[in-house]
Amino acid sequence: MLDRINALLKEVEVLHAKNAEELEALRIKYLSKKGAINELMNEFRNVSADQKKEIGMKMNELKNKVQEQIKRLKEAFEAQGQSQDEVDLSRTAYPVALGTRHPLSLVREEIIQIFSRMGFTIADGPEIEDDWHVFSSMNFAEDHPARDMQDTFFIEHHPDVILRTHTSSVQSRVMEHTQPPIRVICPGRVYRNEAISYRAHCFFHQVEGLYIDKNVSFTDLKQVLLQFAKEMFGAETKIRLRPSYFPFTEPSAEMDISCDICGGTGCAFCKHTGWVEILGCGMVDPAVLEANGIDSTIYTGYAFGMGVERITNLKYKVSDLRLFSENDVLFLEQFESAH
Ligand code: DAH
Repeated sequence: MLDRINALLKEVEVLHAKNAEELEALRIKYLSKKGAINELMNEFRNVSADQKKEIGMKMNELKNKVQEQIKRLKEAFEAQGQSQDEVDLSRTAYPVALGTRHPLSLVREEIIQIFSRMGFTIADGPEIEDDWHVFSSMNFAEDHPARDMQDTFFIEHHPDVILRTHTSSVQSRVMEHTQPPIRVICPGRVYRNEAISYRAHCFFHQVEGLYIDKNVSFTDLKQVLLQFAKEMFGAETKIRLRPSYFPFTEPSAEMDISCDICGGTGCAFCKHTGWVEILGCGMVDPAVLEANGIDSTIYTGYAFGMGVERITNLKYKVSDLRLFSENDVLFLEQFESAH
């Protein structure tokens, strides 16, 4: 019996299996109920008492060896299986899905670029504002309808903590700490208490412009806006200024550009006029200069304000404003990516 155990020990020393089935066959051969080790156990009963110790120790050695070898082979298979299934170091990388820039960001960036090239710097202001910066300093009369609850969002029912309704508030913030020459644009988000539809939203984006120096005239304003329109919409673009009213400018105007969609011949988008309005502008009212600490006997200035959504509508022919804030990937994916 000792010889047989020694022979098995030798055999087990070089145990090998090509695959999981072979390994299972080995397990059955040695460790199952009818396997070699159990067979020896059965015989062990008949071993004489003086041999029991020696043979018993050998049998234990054999059993441990078999278990150890089968475990080793099993682990080797598992490690191999893993490396085959999960990591192929020679394969090229999966393409990484990169996001695209939001159309409003693209247009805001382009507006900033155009005015930066003309020497404007960027100014920023808070979205949560007070009455002074949004209305009073901008020459809104005490009873002006724009202060009405209808248009303005108030925070916690406090009459002096509001969401700004336009970026003109940043004009005031710049003037209160800067003396002319001032040449800034102020991009930002604004809020109005409007019912949401395809053409109105309760928040949208504007870019404000402000230029104050000695001898600034309406001609300067017109030239800058013409240059902007040509760079934004193409060299053929024409502009037209229509008289208008804003509390903070005098005289005031609204600017139309020749319709980019029909080329000026008339279509549904321009309501068959050949023109579409894109911004408001004017010469800064002397009362605004004075309210913000600038001497209106020395300085004059112009200002303008445009809606980023409006310009994006035109540039990318998006007719429903709501698309800009719904985060629909199918819509967003259509825009030029950031790289
Ligand atoms: N604040 C105006 C609005 O929200 C836009 C505007 C008009 C801004 C004329 C200006 C301006 O600076 O001069 O509708």
